[in-house]
Amino acid sequence: MKKVPTHVAIIMDGNGRWAKEKGEKRSYGHKYGAKTLETLALHAKKIGIKYLSVYAFSTDNFKRSVEEVSFIMDLLVYYCKNRLKRLGEEGVRVVFSGRREGLRSDVLDAMEDITKKTSKNSSCTLNVCLNYGGQEEIIDSFIKLHNDINNDDIKLEEIDRETLYKYMYQNLPPIDLLIRTGKEHRLSNFMLYQMFYAELYFVDTYFPDFKCKDLDEAIKYYNNKERRFGNAK
Ligand code: FPP
Repeated sequence: MKKVPTHVAIIMDGNGRWAKEKGEKRSYGHKYGAKTLETLALHAKKIGIKYLSVYAFSTDNFKRSVEEVSFIMDLLVYYCKNRLKRLGEEGVRVVFSGRREGLRSDVLDAMEDITKKTSKNSSCTLNVCLNYGGQEEIIDSFIKLHNDINNDDIKLEEIDRETLYKYMYQNLPPIDLLIRTGKEHRLSNFMLYQMFYAELYFVDTYFPDFKCKDLDEAIKYYNNKERRFGNAK
């Protein structure tokens, strides 16, 4: 592989449709989606991706049925206690982005536990976006910034692109490559600040069927792009 992007983000779409096509409930799709995510995170670490951000649950996903929301939250707790722990043993650091308010206490406890247990790992960071919205992240960063200005912790002149990254939920570098599975071509309120020069890669495959070789394919696409960041040819 020529050049591996530092920060890859994935909108893991199509779990529900994948399950429906198999005559199964939507939850079946999420279960297989979670397995796919685990495999991809290990692969990402192996090929040298330093940051992998994934959209696990948006603030708007709370509009879904109570049954589906509970299933995804239970799955998350299970993963934090079991599978993500294994990722941690493989050297992956797990962090979360999103609002804490509205999340169940067992979910918060599981998140905190896995974050602590993997905090010393440095080979790859898995950023799980949960109860997350891109505009909400920008709003929350403005509130933090406003407080810091009022407390004289930062001066207006010090605010620039770089500084604002520190006010996001996690201080991660800009996204180099965004992958969206599942046929739709939109950003769905995902990491809007960090996405500013991301290459966008849309693939029809539903997320549970997205394999390591498909991630390699997306990186190949990224490698064929000339990134000018606003500069002329
Ligand atoms: C989008 O597909 C998927 C989600 C909203 C949930 C994604 C969650 C996981 C993959 C599990 C995450 C688990 C861990 C451990 C982080 P959709 O339901 O919108 O599919 P559809 O568009 O076909 O209906």
